[in-house]
Amino acid sequence: MTRTARPRRFLMCRPTHFEVSYAINPWMDPAKPVDTGLAVLQWERLYELYAELGHRVDLIDPLPGLPDMVYAANGATVVDGRVLGARFRNAERAAEGPAYLEWFRANGFVTHDPVHVNEGEGDLLLTGSWLLAGRGFRSVSAGHAEAQEFLGRPVIGLDLVDPRFYHLDTALSVLDTDEVMYYPGAFSAGSRAVLRRLFPDAVLVAEADAEVFGLNVMSDGRNVVLPEAATGVAARLRERGFRPIGMDLSELFKGGGSVKCCTLEIREAV
Ligand code: ARG
Repeated sequence: MTRTARPRRFLMCRPTHFEVSYAINPWMDPAKPVDTGLAVLQWERLYELYAELGHRVDLIDPLPGLPDMVYAANGATVVDGRVLGARFRNAERAAEGPAYLEWFRANGFVTHDPVHVNEGEGDLLLTGSWLLAGRGFRSVSAGHAEAQEFLGRPVIGLDLVDPRFYHLDTALSVLDTDEVMYYPGAFSAGSRAVLRRLFPDAVLVAEADAEVFGLNVMSDGRNVVLPEAATGVAARLRERGFRPIGMDLSELFKGGGSVKCCTLEIREAV
């Protein structure tokens, strides 16, 4: 199968102030050292790769005291040029929501300041037909309803049950229009049944690949940028005609994130 890449627009945030000073997911351990300089280098490689692939990347200024701001995917959800702001579950990240929303306001987007918790594209993933919406650890059902009302896309709520995969974007990735891959063990039995019904041809990913954040990827429809340790995922993608590109994001892994977490998609109005 021949795959076609579609140029994208992303928002990213340089990890200038990145560190692991608190733990709000099982991957974070403040006792473990983090090399911020190396985090910046690894992030810059990702940033440059997007440009080489023909994508446009905007940057938001990192703010001191917000070490997780590098995980731009959590900052908002943008569909048809309409920006649903994020509202974080944890106090440590609360100030990121307004910071991202302000960037979008300043850049002329239509924005909505959320009432209920939703952690942006960490939990809200757009396919051609639906807005897949994770809940269980961070975003809540009321936040999903708010997303559906503002973005006008049908929401499919999915229950996450494994704390290691606390955001939907650690458990499922959208590869193309209505084509996804996921790790079934991250979902409740009912949500697994929903996923089987909506995506009978989905790539099912093994636990070993999910554990190295092999689902935290950016796909442009052809190129799939993923953590290089996820070799099983890369092989499956190659069989399907995608072009996997492995990256080393070891430092950002220590915060509980990888490629997708660092990448917020800006979907403009058409
Ligand atoms: N330390 C961050 C948190 O726990 C990591 C966020 C990762 N981002 C993502 N899109 N999954 O909130």
